[in-house]
Amino acid sequence: MSASATASAPPPVTGRWRTAWITGASTGIGRELALQLAARGVRVAVSARSADALADLAAAHAGITPFSLDVTDLAAARTAAAAVHAHLGSIDLVILCAGVWDPMGSWDYQAERATHSMAVNYTGIVNVLDPILPLLRAQSRGQIALMASLAGYRGIPNAAAYAPSKAAVISLAESLRPDLRGTGTKISVINTGFVATPMTAHNTFPMPQILPAAVAATRILRGLDARRFEIAFPWLLAHLANFLRKRSYLVYFWAIDRFVLPYHNSLPTSPQPTTQDANTVSARHPGEGRAPHQAAEKIAPYTNEPLL
Ligand SMILES: NC(=O)c1ccc[n+]([C@@H]2O[C@H](COP(=O)([O-])OP(=O)(O)OC[C@H]3O[C@@H](n4cnc5c(N)ncnc54)[C@H](OP(=O)(O)O)[C@@H]3O)[C@@H](O)[C@H]2O)c1
Repeated sequence: MSASATASAPPPVTGRWRTAWITGASTGIGRELALQLAARGVRVAVSARSADALADLAAAHAGITPFSLDVTDLAAARTAAAAVHAHLGSIDLVILCAGVWDPMGSWDYQAERATHSMAVNYTGIVNVLDPILPLLRAQSRGQIALMASLAGYRGIPNAAAYAPSKAAVISLAESLRPDLRGTGTKISVINTGFVATPMTAHNTFPMPQILPAAVAATRILRGLDARRFEIAFPWLLAHLANFLRKRSYLVYFWAIDRFVLPYHNSLPTSPQPTTQDANTVSARHPGEGRAPHQAAEKIAPYTNEPLL
């Protein structure tokens, strides 16, 4: 952990926050959030694992201070929270943005990858909330934003590691909201669609309505300023995802089969299984172990399947 060098005098505070802590701030959305908050005169503590990237960010604005942190380490999260609190005095806003996207499906399923996504995307938030909730309770005020995703609404193909971790984050935010009533602490969940960042840079499938990171950061801050519980965008994709979220499995899986699965064979991490692999896996689980495009062709109508 190290304090940044002063690069320029910060502009006056214009919003509701004087201080903020952002995890996952070395790149992408978290970095943009830090820069936009700092430009509003907010003193921002930024965390991630890459100390060099954090130092570069801190050099870009006097109001930004780096605190290196791997969010999967609970002891380190407690130490970092204490250091950030000591540095900022009080913490008005905490944005828990650290995350990983590991495209994984049934054909390349590995427990280690699924649990790593959960460790960063979900447990990483849990680890930082542990020291932050009592700090904000003691202040009797504060705002927390948990970064989830529209991918957390329901299960989606190629996201067997990612989607469950984001669904858990949404559930965590929903669970904490009623408990925080009357404490002065507000909680929000951020469900964004596609944003152009290093995370999505290697995706080869279509990413409808993808937004620049700076635009996403502005929309997030606008939603937090308005103290909305859920900040979901872009509008059309969010409404479509929300519509499908409330539909029966019959309708939902029909839409997935019709509009999402056909794009799967363009994914870089979707290797075509060998004949031997496919036969071996299919013998145990009929329908499994095929290349995604093959699976799409062979899917039976869901009307013939028992639905819960
Ligand atoms: N981009 C999208 O389309 C999109 C859509 C919906 C939701 N999101 C969510 O938005 C958040 C930010 O994503 P992004 O698009 O800005 O991706 P990004 O540019 O890859 O940023 C991810 C950030 O998380 C940090 N991080 C990863 N593992 C960490 C760990 N163990 N401990 C601490 N920090 C860690 C990374 O820094 P280090 O590697 O230096 O640690 C980086 O700062 C993620 O939670 C992501 O799931 C993104």
